[in-house]
Amino acid sequence: EKSVYQKGLQYERPPFTFHAHEWERQASAQMSATSKGYVIGNAGTGETARKNRDAFQRWSIVPNRLVRTEDLPDLSTKVLGQELQFPIAAAPVGVQRIFNPDGEVAAARAAAENNVPYILSSAASASIEEVAEANGDGTRWFQLYWPKNDDEEVTVSMLDRAKKAGYTALVVTLDTYILGWRPSDMDNGYNPFLRSDQIGTAIGLTDPVFRRRFKEAHGVEVEAEMGAAVAEWTRTIFPGTSHGWEDIKFLQKHWEGPMVLKGIQTVADAKKSVEVGVQGIVVSNHGGRQVDGAVSSLGMLPRIVDAVGEKVDVLFDSGIRCGADIAKALGLGAKMVLVGRPYIYGLVLGGRAGVSHVFKSLLGDLELTLHLSGIVSARPDHLNRDTLIRESD
Ligand code: FNR
Repeated sequence: EKSVYQKGLQYERPPFTFHAHEWERQASAQMSATSKGYVIGNAGTGETARKNRDAFQRWSIVPNRLVRTEDLPDLSTKVLGQELQFPIAAAPVGVQRIFNPDGEVAAARAAAENNVPYILSSAASASIEEVAEANGDGTRWFQLYWPKNDDEEVTVSMLDRAKKAGYTALVVTLDTYILGWRPSDMDNGYNPFLRSDQIGTAIGLTDPVFRRRFKEAHGVEVEAEMGAAVAEWTRTIFPGTSHGWEDIKFLQKHWEGPMVLKGIQTVADAKKSVEVGVQGIVVSNHGGRQVDGAVSSLGMLPRIVDAVGEKVDVLFDSGIRCGADIAKALGLGAKMVLVGRPYIYGLVLGGRAGVSHVFKSLLGDLELTLHLSGIVSARPDHLNRDTLIRESD
């Protein structure tokens, strides 16, 4: 079994550059203004998105020498009770068909080929079942945008479908009960979820409960009133107001597997997550797309790990762009990182092969970063705060 890096060097021709910092620029040149505004766009002035990136620069890896090795480092991790070959997952990203006609299906195939878990968004442009089929034997989790209580029948329907289709964990996103203040999308007059050609609405439009309720209310099938149906689905998953902590038990009643709360940024909320009995949290600020001016996600990671790291699996996202970033987040105590925008750029630049190239690049880079730093595995006994130093404020 060859290492990720060795496999990388054997590429006859990579589909696009190995320079991770070039992916955004190259993908931008190929996207429509609306898709570009959607994926690159942040909340507000982009301050939090910049802080997400800057936070990585404050930490540095401190390489060790003469660590005798027979092999390249072990990148495996254990998350939610499952052994995984690599410590990265594809973050939930909605409406992937605006980036490539095969959208989520291509991305979920690429994820499975690379042993990277795929997290399907509630706002996906392919159905729960289609993506499961494309993902095959891969590990897949379902991300919930959580409808309000009067739509709980729809929530239960989504959870049932996900369970039946082999999604093993539920990731509940808590930071997006309404979309953030996103000037790019507003300037473009563009909300990808409201496009009436089915893009952005597949999960809703294929949901039997949503379809039945729509017919009861409007007297026609969703196909006959596509504009109204997508608007209603969008309101269903972005209801505009939030649930409370006491509502988590409703989801626990309807989901037997592990549950992860995504969007945690405070120690207090991390502790509440432990109290309500979920198995994991994702320390995330949605890539700086929700609350501009909010703290960097990496900045909050160490204290959250200190508070709850022994009690729940702490996952991380927002700003991961290269192997060193992954090493730093793991060193600060995350069990796994989610990668958002980079694999979407891969999807734009090369469909399934492009997503694969992004995962292989990030993992190959991580593998060599650890190897040349004398860190023999990505587990906390080897990759931890002793391997990092905080250089500045
Ligand atoms: C997202 N994200 C997101 N999160 C979620 O829970 N459900 C979703 O449908 C989406 N959709 C989505 C679309 C796009 C275009 C982006 C860029 C992001 C947030 C995502 O899961 C993740 O938290 C961030 O993308 C992580 O930051 P980076 O890696 O993009 O910096």
